[in-house]
Amino acid sequence: MSKPRIYVTRLIPEPALRRLEEVFVLDANRESAPVSRERLLEAVREADALLCLLTDSIDKELLDAAPRLKCVSNYAVGYNNIDVDYATQRGIAVCNTPGVLTESTADLAWSLLMSCARHIVEGDNYVRAGKFTGWEPMLFLGNDVYGKTLGIIGMGRIGRAVARRASGFAMRVLYFDPTVDPESLPQEYQAAELPQLCQDADFISIHAPLTPQTRHLIGAPELALMKQTAVLVNTARGPIIDEAALIQALRDKRIAAAGLDVYEFEPQIPAELLTLANVVLLPHIGSASWETRTKMGLLAAENAIAVIEGRTPPARVN
Ligand code: DGY
Repeated sequence: MSKPRIYVTRLIPEPALRRLEEVFVLDANRESAPVSRERLLEAVREADALLCLLTDSIDKELLDAAPRLKCVSNYAVGYNNIDVDYATQRGIAVCNTPGVLTESTADLAWSLLMSCARHIVEGDNYVRAGKFTGWEPMLFLGNDVYGKTLGIIGMGRIGRAVARRASGFAMRVLYFDPTVDPESLPQEYQAAELPQLCQDADFISIHAPLTPQTRHLIGAPELALMKQTAVLVNTARGPIIDEAALIQALRDKRIAAAGLDVYEFEPQIPAELLTLANVVLLPHIGSASWETRTKMGLLAAENAIAVIEGRTPPARVN
């Protein structure tokens, strides 16, 4: 019997490609640049499985161009780039990569939080620019993290991993997540409505999926409730924050700072955001460690292989 075919839309770690080759005829874009939409539409025509990224739009047009497709395996935990309802209607399994990127993403959220609290990026730029002339009592004063209140929006795996790290800083943890069972969380974490969390937290970190309910969850009204010393961190999905409202709040110093790994119109970043000193900007690298990206690749490969072999995949979302 001939091998099934898979198309991989971008260069991913080699162990995942090798694993796929054991089962599939592998057609892969081995460049770090994305494939054109045209090439993608052509590549899926013969594909039994597709391993795609969060930057690929897997919509009705694409699914209709793929008559043999049995599996869309996303190399990401978030899957807002896929029309899951339509895939389900077509009997196509949609899979993702939960769990393996939890700790790396939590580490990056904390990196942004600390960078914002203590002016790490501004300090680095200052030294590189040759401006450091000696210790100064009033140079780059930030805010302590120890003993403060951390507000977490979205208490899934990553939100919980971020909360766990807060115990080392003796922080009070507040969370907003209408979908979570409080019994599943440590007793000392306190559930809060979103306005209360915005008012009380010194640091707010977003870990919710992007859904119609979470789009613009943080907008002008929520920013207006935050402390002037508040730091807002987003490593989840850009559209959860109304970016225009955030820019206004940062410009007016309504809040102290923001740490962003994701953007509303990614990869476009508003020019004004680039000019603000009270924001730390990263290029969507929450899961970007060698270990994690390799695990993501292997999990995405196992998902596709399981579907093709008629087994239950490790992480199916529909
Ligand atoms: C995801 O997995 O959804 C991240 O955004 C990328 O790792």
